[in-house]
Amino acid sequence: MNKKSMSSADGIKANSSQDEFGELQMSPVEMLNLANRTAELLIERIQNLPSENAWDGDFRGELENRLLEAPPETGTSALEVIERAMKEVLPYALRLDHPRSFAFVSSSPTWPGILADFIASAYNPNLATWLTASGPSQLELVVIEWFKNWIGYPESAGGLLVSGGSAAALNAFFAAREAAGNPEKPTVYMSDQSHSAQLRAARIVGVNANCIRKIPVDKNFRLDLKELVLSVSEDRAAGFNPIAICANAGTAGNGAIDPLNEMSEYCSKENIWLHVDAAYGGFALLTKKGKQLLQGIEKADSIGLDGHKWLFQPYEVGGLMVKDIRNLENAFAVHHDVLQDTIWGANHPNFSDKSYQLSRSFRALKVWMSIQTFGLAAFRRAVERGMDFADQSEKYIQESNILELLAPASLGIVCFRINPSDEKLDEDLVEEINRTVLARVFWEDNAIISSTLVEKKFALRLCIINHNTTWKDVLETLVVIEQFGKEELSKV
Ligand SMILES: Cc1ncc(COP(=O)(O)O)c(C=O)c1O
Repeated sequence: MNKKSMSSADGIKANSSQDEFGELQMSPVEMLNLANRTAELLIERIQNLPSENAWDGDFRGELENRLLEAPPETGTSALEVIERAMKEVLPYALRLDHPRSFAFVSSSPTWPGILADFIASAYNPNLATWLTASGPSQLELVVIEWFKNWIGYPESAGGLLVSGGSAAALNAFFAAREAAGNPEKPTVYMSDQSHSAQLRAARIVGVNANCIRKIPVDKNFRLDLKELVLSVSEDRAAGFNPIAICANAGTAGNGAIDPLNEMSEYCSKENIWLHVDAAYGGFALLTKKGKQLLQGIEKADSIGLDGHKWLFQPYEVGGLMVKDIRNLENAFAVHHDVLQDTIWGANHPNFSDKSYQLSRSFRALKVWMSIQTFGLAAFRRAVERGMDFADQSEKYIQESNILELLAPASLGIVCFRINPSDEKLDEDLVEEINRTVLARVFWEDNAIISSTLVEKKFALRLCIINHNTTWKDVLETLVVIEQFGKEELSKV
């Protein structure tokens, strides 16, 4: 249904005149040269990554000295600008796609995903409505359909792509509050291992900080159902109104998975919305093992899962899936006269009716292009590798006489510390040694790891989700940690 017939794409015309365009347009040849050179520089960067450090950064004063300036009235050569950004700005960051980047939650995008963002920016469709972007909207529906099938959601389910796990939770909690009838004195429940993004989302939708119940966990860091039941019944008796319970499908700290089946049963009995924060662990669903671990997720009212984590996409792409899509539409659809032309009817959804965001970028393209290019089996294997490497790390840690496992490997994460089993070291000393080892890995090795607290104990943490990480990368990092540990212990 083309409004005008398209001119055929017969290549770039080197001599086409740009005189009729504004000053912000470049000549086709210049555009092509710049794009080629940019691609060259990016590919060189990717090739050089393993020989670089996983982290580089500088102090604000230093960076300000180099970068803070008034915007120039007249321009500079675009290539110089790009090269400057790649020399003076971009290297000063955590290299999340480095094969030894084990800190926090890394993101290592595929090349088709990267190019998809380039293409999406160039076409720049606005996925607010079907009218403004029917092709891209349809592709988003395709990706959502994929997610729906991976989860095992029913026909009634749907969703949309959002900026990430924070936005997914915010939209989900808002829909939950609306579904509950927007009651006074709302409360939200989550385990004490839940991500700060869930807390923040609950606060934004109007839940007082002191009405967010942090439920204790069992010895496997899974929300304790009895404590949850107790907390909800006490709250109800005191006149509070539970609007949502949030389960973890992979905590950021140690990958723990809450009892999804039991929680969903309880939530449906009590008529309380269940949101699953699967921002980190959601795409483990692609693997047999992950599907088993996440059993019950398909019963949740909503799920947030981040493509920019374990689906190997560039920022930003998260999915918000809901079991009954009407819950999003009921909460978010708002009529605006200026958009009245965009209503095509129920069969042609306007994504702006399903979340707080109106103008939206084309996030689906990167997911679709990556999976079309490599095939889903390659993604399954990549996710599986991360889980296997975490299991192998756990084995290595248990066999070491100076490492202590603090939380079992779960969904690609393993937490441990230096603490020789045959020496009864004071807790403060153990913490000091581990802090020093963490800092030494940071400054002296090319890997980066991060820390967390496991039952209040300072823990070293490896999160292994880069598709380019090899077992050698993991093993050599563990060996370095052990080596530094031995050196620090010898000073005691
Ligand atoms: C478990 C978990 N939940 C939520 C979030 C927040 O997601 P985002 O940063 O994509 O908003 C993260 C981010 O790391 C996470 O690991």
